[in-house]
Amino acid sequence: MVSEAANAGQELDLSRIPAHIGIIMDGNGRWAKARNLPRSMGHKAGVETIRSIVRECNRLGVKYLTLYAFSTENWKRPEAEVGFLMDLLVRYLRSEFQELHENNVIIDSIGDIEALPAKCRQELESAYERTRSNTGVHMYLALNYGGQREIVKAVQKAMADVQAGILKPEDLTESTFSRYLYAGAIPEPDLIIRPSGELRLSNFMLYQSAYSEFWFSQINWPDFTPADLRQAIADCQKRDRRFGGVNSEG
Ligand code: IPE
Ligand code: IPE
Ligand code: MG
Repeated sequence: MVSEAANAGQELDLSRIPAHIGIIMDGNGRWAKARNLPRSMGHKAGVETIRSIVRECNRLGVKYLTLYAFSTENWKRPEAEVGFLMDLLVRYLRSEFQELHENNVIIDSIGDIEALPAKCRQELESAYERTRSNTGVHMYLALNYGGQREIVKAVQKAMADVQAGILKPEDLTESTFSRYLYAGAIPEPDLIIRPSGELRLSNFMLYQSAYSEFWFSQINWPDFTPADLRQAIADCQKRDRRFGGVNSEG
């Protein structure tokens, strides 16, 4: 349960918590730079933030949480940074597994996982197998993820189904198309959060964000707190989501 104190000042409507939140975890490098630390220390600090945010999502009853951790474009970074991030992923999954499992979190991933180093793949698959029947927040780590690639791959899968006679082209609709996305037809993100001051999606959830609410902030990801998450939710609850229609007051 969410106590009054934890909720203070933010007027969260607990009956309207977003079912799916996406977070573009950005600003680790700038956080480190501001402290004269190497970028790797920023990534390490960013992992600490994940712990507190997953816990908070679980507490609030968020059903799906997608965390953008590594994009299809992030391979452009220096080899040492990419290597550090891959190792950090393995260390994260090993060190956080117990707590996540005890908190009923499903540890899942989206993206071209096959192209990740074998140890990352194995750790992700094993974490998913061991947590798939949990009932808490379903966490997706978006790794080697790109929204454009996701759409292209979905089209490829749909075309293969057409060739196999399983799908008729005219039966492909906005909703049947979602089944071909990495996570299948789960609810689209109600809220997409991007810290660090950048005002762009950087290839995150291009198909699913058609009607997402966006919340941007200057805070770098390592400094992002559960209170910031509650603020983002509270701010979005004040917005009128019309989905192209008219609001109830007309
Ligand atoms: C986000 O932080 C982490 C990844 C993209 C892997 P950045 O590393 O992009 O941090 P900035 O944007 O340089 O501050
Ligand atoms: C987006 O951040 C990707 C992740 C947070 C994983 P980037 O730092 O890669 O995005 P750009 O380069 O600023 O657009
Ligand atoms: Mg960045």
